Amino acid sequence: MTKPADPKLAPGEARCPGPSLQDIYDADGDAVPAAMRVEQYEFLGDEDLSFDRYFNPDFEKAEHERLWNRTWQWACREEHIPAKGDRYVYDIGPYSILVVRGENGKIRAFANSCPHRGMQFARAGSAGVKRATIRCPFHGMTFNLDGSLNEIPCRWDFPHLNEDNFRLTEVQCDSWGGFVFINMDPDAPPLAEYLEVIPEHFKLWTMDDRYVALHSEKILPANWKMAMEAFLEAFHVLETHSQAVATAGDANAQYDIFGKNVSRFMHAIGVQSPHIQTDFTQKQIFAKLGRDPDILPEGETARAYHAQLLREEYSEKFGVDLSDRSTGEMLDSIEYFLFPNAFFFPGINIRLSYRFRPIDVDHCLHEILILQPVPANGERPAPAKPVRLGIDDSYTTIEGFDLAEILDQDTDNLMMQRNGAKASLKGAQSLGNYQEARIRNLHRTLDEYIKS
Ligand code: FES
Ligand SMILES: [Fe+2]
Repeated sequence: MTKPADPKLAPGEARCPGPSLQDIYDADGDAVPAAMRVEQYEFLGDEDLSFDRYFNPDFEKAEHERLWNRTWQWACREEHIPAKGDRYVYDIGPYSILVVRGENGKIRAFANSCPHRGMQFARAGSAGVKRATIRCPFHGMTFNLDGSLNEIPCRWDFPHLNEDNFRLTEVQCDSWGGFVFINMDPDAPPLAEYLEVIPEHFKLWTMDDRYVALHSEKILPANWKMAMEAFLEAFHVLETHSQAVATAGDANAQYDIFGKNVSRFMHAIGVQSPHIQTDFTQKQIFAKLGRDPDILPEGETARAYHAQLLREEYSEKFGVDLSDRSTGEMLDSIEYFLFPNAFFFPGINIRLSYRFRPIDVDHCLHEILILQPVPANGERPAPAKPVRLGIDDSYTTIEGFDLAEILDQDTDNLMMQRNGAKASLKGAQSLGNYQEARIRNLHRTLDEYIKS
């Protein structure tokens, strides 16, 4: 029987016994960036959350009509369209957006739908091409890179169309950190406002000087929200990733709710889980980190020395100087979530970005980008082409993907969770007040869009 909750604490105030993440940063004794010292949690209620919001086609329809066409979403990286005339197609739900680089490097986004008879200008997954105009593959009507009309074949037959009433439908487009974002709502607030704390926190972790070193796409057997939620908490580490508890501060992870759109977790790597009753020696933890225990210097912690070795190894591998990066930045899982569907990890060892897109109520597409620092010589490698995995394919088939085993464990859960949730006679889930607060925040913001 586990101990009951402390009745003296208000809901959401309880924390895992043992050292907090901030205690671990104190013990590191190095220059932890100010953003990682911020703690901002809010109790958001403890009501059950209905499973209906995952499986009900009416809810999915409401997401199409009120969510995806009104929120800022990362469409591509700027490096996907490096030259004038390059284009990238971003599909989301029933929508398709054509992102185009035009004159003077200006990036614009348009509905990927010809104003003649609706033909798509390019297919999903298209990138590059570097053409001087946007030409429809059906009848050849042609538009300039700023969306204005260029040419109508058989011009004599369209006297009613002109430069003013026949151009591409432009949508909002802006960039942050080398990511190109789009928003189909002309009245949406600017991206910089929507990003809440992200621009300030990431001043130190510039994402525009990173390049796409690896890109995977995998269909997951769950609703897009259910799949994302597996990545919004570290509560599942003990059971799902039990091999990691010797080196992961899971139950003492820190969760932050910065606003409607942005939340964060940070959990320490290279420390043992508070769940483990017996203390590992530092040599044992060092070995679990994949290092030779005999090289751990006397009096040094596994966490500190592993970070020091990674500083040296990655500085050489990436061709950049990482000597001033704190232990936490080097090692920890630092994950920012941006509503509705994007994740950014600014850490060095765990340097991922994710996005999730719905396919239908039971399936979604999960993309992982590994963003690596551009070498100090400034030569940016071309972005990696996506590796496409089928629903049953393992991440271990991707060469050089260190986190493959962990990702397989996360995604292997999804079909059973989806089917179990459908079989639930209770019809709802009950969330933890602290560790699962980011899931509640996601649904709180989603409700605001659906209901307004
Ligand atoms: S549909 Fe595009 S030119 Fe006809
Ligand atoms: Fe996980």
